[in-house]
Amino acid sequence: ELDPLPPLTPDFLRVLNRVCEQCYSDFAPDDLENGVRELILQDLESFVRRQFAGARLQLFGSSKNGFGFRQSDLDICMVLEGKETMDDFDCINIIKGLARQLKKHPGLKNILPITTAKVPIVKFYHIRTGLEGDISLYNTLALHNTRLLASYAAIDRRVKILCYIMKVFAKMCDIGDASRGSLSSYAYTLMVLFFLQQRNPPVIPVLQEIYDGKTKPEVLVDGWNVYFFDDLKTLPRHWPQYGKNTETVGELWLGLLRFYTEDFDFREHVVCIRQHARLTTFNKQWTSKYIVIEDPFDLNHNLGAGLSRRSMINFYVTFFVNCTLLSQFFCFFFMFLHFCHQ
Ligand code: CTP
Ligand code: MG
Repeated sequence: ELDPLPPLTPDFLRVLNRVCEQCYSDFAPDDLENGVRELILQDLESFVRRQFAGARLQLFGSSKNGFGFRQSDLDICMVLEGKETMDDFDCINIIKGLARQLKKHPGLKNILPITTAKVPIVKFYHIRTGLEGDISLYNTLALHNTRLLASYAAIDRRVKILCYIMKVFAKMCDIGDASRGSLSSYAYTLMVLFFLQQRNPPVIPVLQEIYDGKTKPEVLVDGWNVYFFDDLKTLPRHWPQYGKNTETVGELWLGLLRFYTEDFDFREHVVCIRQHARLTTFNKQWTSKYIVIEDPFDLNHNLGAGLSRRSMINFYVTFFVNCTLLSQFFCFFFMFLHFCHQ
């Protein structure tokens, strides 16, 4: 049995809540910064078109899903007009050609094609803004999961704030860099959404389970059903629990930490945001080394699979130490963060 948390006085909760809200307003980009991202995209598109006529570039990831920081990278997906799909061989060749082309762009540096990854990309650095970015090809499912995340972010502002805190927390504790064997930002976001769906009463619904009529509509992309309910204006009519949860962001954050340290069984449970019923690692036939996080559309994709042993130890230590023993620590941690940022 775990010791109960130290008493959470109203004062403590009030400060915690303020710091959580502050964390969001400190890190969120404003309209101007979002506009700059669009301008960079347009400039790149017209530049790339000189070599690849019919190229179309589109932003996705945190520039579009509502959980972006000022310094978040630019995730860009490129497609060629009139071409539905592309095989791996062509993909790699185009990535190489794209890298050669981008090297001629005076506003960019550090061009690096990465053709061995699951999704081949060209990385670049945009000199004037200091933003990093990468361009991938035909990353269609990512465009859809970006839209899904954006819809969750739009339902309730607490969703946005909590996802921010989680990302800041992961980055500050150095457990948020997928290229170094940790979980990706995307995986942490899914963990927050899952918690908010499982909360009682829930803060957000399972959008993939809401539909009119008897059967779930089917919208196939790369062989997966990417349907979800996106008519948010009518959500209150379709989801009876709308607005029932009135907890503050601070309460929810502590709830999240307790959820992943006390309720969630890392060996048996799956972080799965596409259905409300609990899914187990046994159902999925996925042997989990550490944590299993199912992609909402690509059901064969376990986002926890790339986790290294070292990262997982960091992850556990960070969560358990901070959550169960020193919940007060968080208050100071975020205040510290806040003051550092000023
Ligand atoms: N993505 C994915 N599967 C993964 C990793 C990423 O589909 N295993 C997609 C998601 O759409 C994600 C996007 O790629 O939003 C960008 O990933 P990443 O840059 O890691 O996360 P962001 O959400 O953009 O967060 P950050 O602010 O840290 O860049
Ligand atoms: Mg990103």
